[in-house]
Amino acid sequence: MSKSSIDIESVLKEARVFEPPKEFAAQAHIGSLEEYERLYRQSVDEPEAFWAEQAETLHWFRKWDRVLDWDPPHAKWFAGGQINVSDNCLDRHLTTHRKNKAAIIWEGEPGDQRVLTYDMLHAEVCRCANTLKALGVAQGDRVIVYMPMVPELAITLLACARIGATHSVVFGGFSAQALEDRINDCEAKLVVTADGGWRRGKEVALKPQVDAALEKCSSVDHCLVLKRTGSDLPMVEGRDVWWHDVVPAASADCPAEPLDSEHPLYILYTSGTTGKPKGIVHSTAGYLLGASLSAKYVFDLKDEDTYWCTADIGWVTGHSYIVYGILANGATTVMYEGAPNHPGPDRFWDIVERYRVNIFYTAPTAIRAFIKWGNEWPEKHDLSSLRLLGSVGEPINPEAWMWYRSVIGGDRCPIVDTWWQTETGSIMITPLPGAIPTTPGTATRPFFGVVAEVVDKDGNAEPPEKGGFLVLRKPWPSMLRNIWGDPERYEKQYWSDYPGSYFTGDGARQDAAGNFWIMGRVDDVINVSGHRLGTMEIESALVSHPRVAEAAVVGRPDDLKGQAISAFVTLEGSAAPPPNFKDELRAHVTKEIGAIAKPDDIRFTDALPKTRSGKIMRRLLKELASSGEVKGDTTTLEDFSVIAQLKESEE
Ligand code: WT7
Repeated sequence: MSKSSIDIESVLKEARVFEPPKEFAAQAHIGSLEEYERLYRQSVDEPEAFWAEQAETLHWFRKWDRVLDWDPPHAKWFAGGQINVSDNCLDRHLTTHRKNKAAIIWEGEPGDQRVLTYDMLHAEVCRCANTLKALGVAQGDRVIVYMPMVPELAITLLACARIGATHSVVFGGFSAQALEDRINDCEAKLVVTADGGWRRGKEVALKPQVDAALEKCSSVDHCLVLKRTGSDLPMVEGRDVWWHDVVPAASADCPAEPLDSEHPLYILYTSGTTGKPKGIVHSTAGYLLGASLSAKYVFDLKDEDTYWCTADIGWVTGHSYIVYGILANGATTVMYEGAPNHPGPDRFWDIVERYRVNIFYTAPTAIRAFIKWGNEWPEKHDLSSLRLLGSVGEPINPEAWMWYRSVIGGDRCPIVDTWWQTETGSIMITPLPGAIPTTPGTATRPFFGVVAEVVDKDGNAEPPEKGGFLVLRKPWPSMLRNIWGDPERYEKQYWSDYPGSYFTGDGARQDAAGNFWIMGRVDDVINVSGHRLGTMEIESALVSHPRVAEAAVVGRPDDLKGQAISAFVTLEGSAAPPPNFKDELRAHVTKEIGAIAKPDDIRFTDALPKTRSGKIMRRLLKELASSGEVKGDTTTLEDFSVIAQLKESEE
């Protein structure tokens, strides 16, 4: 991380303040700034009392002995307690008015629909859980889930949670190679997949990728395959099992296993600064509490709400705010399989109108796409059911924020700009919509129990308005517990820069009113459409092509995606690259990682700018990629001619 060389300057000045609308505040769980501040103070002054009281809202098989054991950087929350996430998301609702309430309203891209009530979902989850057991999955085993956005994806997660198997969802857009790496890293026993899913009218095949990956995965015994698209598939005898052959026949009786509070609920891989993706490990009790409490207060979730988060369950947003946090509250969650612009650019607004969606949670990159497609698409639909809007994944630019507010929210709905990470498990900095005034571009105030601070490189608090590094000073229940199989990296990555505090990797400033303005990553991580990609991973993928000698990848600003990927590549030997070689390299990266990591521009050069100690000067490449010029300090550059040459290598 190039902490010392980074000078975080914030140029954003924004003064528009939107108070929570009176009618909203009047009905909200938390309806005034005073109430937020009182609860917040309690949550940080007496965290154990606060969290103990909140934890009482969950169903426990055995109550905890201690709220928190904090041996930095290792936390145990609710040690001694026994609990089950699936039980909290399902069983406890069955004895209430929610038994026959819609838990999941699902729509496939082709237009097929399914509604699962809590009672129906519970039965499906039990059948799936019994199937997992029959396939040899036991408590503590890892299960890889590589599926389209269909109800069976949520069912599989809840089934794993029910029997104490640790799931790891791999986003369906990732390649066979990425899948293989993740399966091997967590030594999964089972892969749950589908023939494919639908996106923009075409089949995205999944099972063939699994077949390719499993050639090099010795830990996997079985592969459970859902029929979604109906395309012809070879099934491997003895290994592959069709979902429809086994799950419907399994018993719908499967009591939830009492699990230790700290039992690993899931692993989710995310990009870091070095080559290998990190398997972020989340716990059972603390994670559930963080996800459910934040869902309730940030989205002001009520029993009568229809809530829709447009994320894919392959990312943490889908884990916490499509499945766990929402179902734990007994709310109704909408799930959609496909693309936002299929069959037309108004698909989302059509869904909002038809299901009378009340709460809508999406990403800035999607909002910028909607703006580009034009106001006529949302204007064709009745969006008056909406009462709250949310944003997540990257800083939302004020222009997009204002558009979202007026065109989608009819100037009526508060917007919650929620800052958090795969590692934090739940929302950390956010407005509470009935309590905290909002201003475009700021995620505003810390959620309960979160002590956030902006510091300089030595860890000293920066004064208001000064940019610095965002740290979290206290442990919180849904925090990551480890990096799977790599405790040293866990300590080094998150807890060594500011001992005792968690370093987020983000730059931020706090204004005089106490609002946090997130300025983006300060490490070598690119945020493409709200998803983190490590530059190292893309570089390793490029270098794995036999003709590539060296590669450096940087992010540059992009109107739609937030950041675009620029690659600088040196080739083996002196021969000029063959025609279409850029396309070949893009295809190569797609094969290695997935289309999401495909470089937007590729420049060939004879050499990369390096310091005398041999470190690539990414700062210069970033400047070049974004402006075509290098104006910054080049005094540590070893060979000046490299820059002149790079400028000539225009994309
Ligand atoms: C990184 C985490 C959390 C789910 C989606 C991404 C950026 C996220 C915001 C926001 C500014 C944001 C940060 C963060 N980020 N939300 N509201 N405002 N930046 O999860 O892949 O773990 O990425 O996304 O840079 O560190 P992730």
